[in-house]
Amino acid sequence: MDLVEGHYPIEAPAGVPEWDVDPFAPEILTDPIDYYTELRAKGPFAYIPKYSMLACGRYDEAKEVFSDHERFVSGRGVGLQDFKLEQPWRPPSIVLEVDPPYHTQNRRVLARVMATKAVQRLKEAFRIAADDLIDALLERGSFEGVGDLAEAFPVNVFSKAVGLADADRCKLVDYGAMVFNGIGPDNAIRQASMAKVPTIVPWITEQCRRENLSDDGIGAEIYAAADTGEITEDEAGMLIRSLLSAGIDTTVTGLGSALWCFANNPGELERLKVDPKLARPAFEETLRFTSPIHSFCRTAGVDTEVGGVSIVEGTKILCVLGAANLDESHWTDAGKFDIQRRTLGHLAFGIGIHGCVGQNLARAEGEAVLGAIARKVGRIELDGEPVWRPNNSIRALDRLPLRFHTA
Ligand code: HEM
Repeated sequence: MDLVEGHYPIEAPAGVPEWDVDPFAPEILTDPIDYYTELRAKGPFAYIPKYSMLACGRYDEAKEVFSDHERFVSGRGVGLQDFKLEQPWRPPSIVLEVDPPYHTQNRRVLARVMATKAVQRLKEAFRIAADDLIDALLERGSFEGVGDLAEAFPVNVFSKAVGLADADRCKLVDYGAMVFNGIGPDNAIRQASMAKVPTIVPWITEQCRRENLSDDGIGAEIYAAADTGEITEDEAGMLIRSLLSAGIDTTVTGLGSALWCFANNPGELERLKVDPKLARPAFEETLRFTSPIHSFCRTAGVDTEVGGVSIVEGTKILCVLGAANLDESHWTDAGKFDIQRRTLGHLAFGIGIHGCVGQNLARAEGEAVLGAIARKVGRIELDGEPVWRPNNSIRALDRLPLRFHTA
């Protein structure tokens, strides 16, 4: 049987509408709101003939598919390719792209080194770095929000937290983009990213080696798990690779989108300034409102049923987290950016056994930056048109010209 984008082709299940759309077209990736709305209107699932897969954008079904690791596995890849049928472009992540019991052992190590208590130790360093950066940008007045802030901050603090010797911003950001584009179909966006594999991948592998990490960072703690026999040295390197894949571009995107949200919603910035403790919930609402990871797949490991729809084993299902986080039937005024909203249950960090293991760290970064903005910045002005960067699984800004005002 011929594969489609590396997976088994399927027929549209009974009752599921066919939808002639390309969710990975640049115009949708850069401006997805109408696509999200239409996807939800189609019902629990839509069948997308171009990729012979299902897509779900309603909150209930997206949550069910994304969280039920027994019926919908990650070990066959969280993109369009089915790893049972085709070799992926790089050895699979030993946490994101594996299932229990192997997942459980590796996840345990990451969860321990990134537990709340571990992140607590980093918070003061994050606060100082954020204060310094915001002071410097206030002095400059106008700046490029993506490069000068959204990328600069996580690359600086996250690299130090992990213990990287060489925090090359371009290579780290390009690696993240490559991994997230790699999850999509073999389109021009993916091919442009993959062209960088020969330069970036050996560099990343080198950064993950024990001798290239400081002895007091998260990286060293992961290698310590190899000393006790919990994992092997090779697995320790692979887990650090997972952090570098998943921990930079996502946070860059979250921070860039937070700046974009506040530049477009001055009233919400006023509320944040009145009560800087809202920095954390404001970051959370940014994640719900913009969903840095817009979609990831699951593969049906068994014949099953969701929302009255029969799903055959091997079906690829695109879980559109961005659409679920804006589902009006779950969220009141879903399309409104409201920093005092109760965001509990949003899917931006995923859910279930694969739910983001770095979420405490990401929140600490967001809180540090938005806290510094709340205390120091009077007004945020758009200083040009924001430009979005199409990516097969991340909703990222490419450029965000901004001006900070003291009052
Ligand atoms: C705002 C920032 C972030 C967002 C929106 C985000 C989002 C997500 C999502 C949606 C998943 C679930 C994937 C799935 O179930 O298939 C995930 C998993 C993961 N994230 Fe994050 N993430 C962020 C930051 C981070 C950071 C800072 C790190 C590292 C320190 C990290 C490391 C990971 C890892 C290793 C996984 C795989 C966990 C597993 O499979 O058990 N993420 N993230």
